[in-house]
Amino acid sequence: MGKIIWKPGTMIYPLPAVMVSCGSVPEEYNILTISWTGTICTDPPMCYISVRPGRYSYDIIKKNGEFVINLTTKSLAFATDWCGVKSGNKHKKFAEMGLTPVAASQVKAPMIKESPVNIECIVKAIKELGSHHMFISEVIAVHADEEYIDKKSGLFRLNDAGPISYLHGKYYETGSFIGKFGFSVEKKKRTK
Ligand SMILES: Cc1cc2nc3c(=O)[nH]c(=O)nc-3n(C[C@H](O)[C@H](O)[C@H](O)COP(=O)(O)O)c2cc1C
Repeated sequence: MGKIIWKPGTMIYPLPAVMVSCGSVPEEYNILTISWTGTICTDPPMCYISVRPGRYSYDIIKKNGEFVINLTTKSLAFATDWCGVKSGNKHKKFAEMGLTPVAASQVKAPMIKESPVNIECIVKAIKELGSHHMFISEVIAVHADEEYIDKKSGLFRLNDAGPISYLHGKYYETGSFIGKFGFSVEKKKRTK
């Protein structure tokens, strides 16, 4: 069997589906779900979110120049989807989804308490690409839930939180362990 050629499109999957929280005062607090996101530089730590200008959150993020990326889990899947189909112009998403806004350390945007990882971001540039505008941002603080930090090794076990991914319009929980970074070149331990 061969491969069919499709017209150009957005085909890089799986992706995360994160909840981005924004707003500088409680009356302005909002959440939108974002899949067009990722890391773009290690040092300084930089990431991006791409947002349609029509989104209610767009103006809030642009005006304040900051936001928080909140990683999502299986238990947050419902809220993740809901915040991605309802708009803050009609809904108070924190309250309606039972999510708790907590103060971040560097930005005025709230963090979502129920998320295992909150990433505080400052917008450095906005690239108007077309349908979406890319907020190129610097990560200025990261909050990790102690519940997932291994007491002995100190390693962060995000997998224990049940992170979800987004694949062609559907949400999935993370699958089983395959190997660790560099396993392909690791020398096999002798058994004899
Ligand atoms: C899984 C998922 C991923 C999404 N990814 C994006 C995205 O990357 N960029 C974007 O502008 N909207 C994205 N959306 C749509 C917005 O989250 C949605 O329009 C939301 O209602 C906007 O909220 P707001 O109007 O309160 O800002 C996504 C929605 C879902 C469900």
